[in-house]
Amino acid sequence: MITEKQESILASLRERIQGYMSEKRLSHTYAVEREITALSGIYAPEDEFTLRVSALLHDITKELSLQKQLQLCILSDIIYTREEMLTPKIFHSRTAAAVIKQDFSEWATDDILSAIRWHTSGHADMTLCEQLLFLADFIEDTRTFESCVKLRRFFYEGIEGAQDKMSHLRDTMILALDLTIDELVSDGKPIHVDTVSARNYFIYEKVRCSK
Ligand SMILES: [Fe+2]
Repeated sequence: MITEKQESILASLRERIQGYMSEKRLSHTYAVEREITALSGIYAPEDEFTLRVSALLHDITKELSLQKQLQLCILSDIIYTREEMLTPKIFHSRTAAAVIKQDFSEWATDDILSAIRWHTSGHADMTLCEQLLFLADFIEDTRTFESCVKLRRFFYEGIEGAQDKMSHLRDTMILALDLTIDELVSDGKPIHVDTVSARNYFIYEKVRCSK
């Protein structure tokens, strides 16, 4: 639950981000906010406000060219690897922090920055907030890719009767990472090492919990 004051902060943030992205990206961003509101109701009611701010800011640099992304990395001392040059989609999750620190500094908190930092690749040992933004970005209701539809169905059909909601979230993360990796393989694209680490982490967790 969030307060009226927080609602009005979110409403003004929704307006402020309009200058940073196209209509299409904006509609996706608002959909991620709606999705994360639903997910936080299930998993983290106390983090709803933080998660909704993360959702509104998560793609703030997504539409910048690779050249601009790289300039931001250099200006903000973001160290990137040669491998990351092969997976430029990852850059926006790193450069968002630079823009947030500069233009939305009141929201440059550890929770918000880390949820955004890992929302594309994932990584080992993801926090709950990181998982929820990753998932909301994947299954928000305007996404029509086959993998997104499949994951949305898996999550919402399973959550209804789930005895252990955290296990269901973990299984959903495994499927999300499997679908991501499958797509990258079939498109002949490289897989970021953090995505592999994320999948391994959730698989190890599943094995550990089944013992
Ligand atoms: Fe997104």
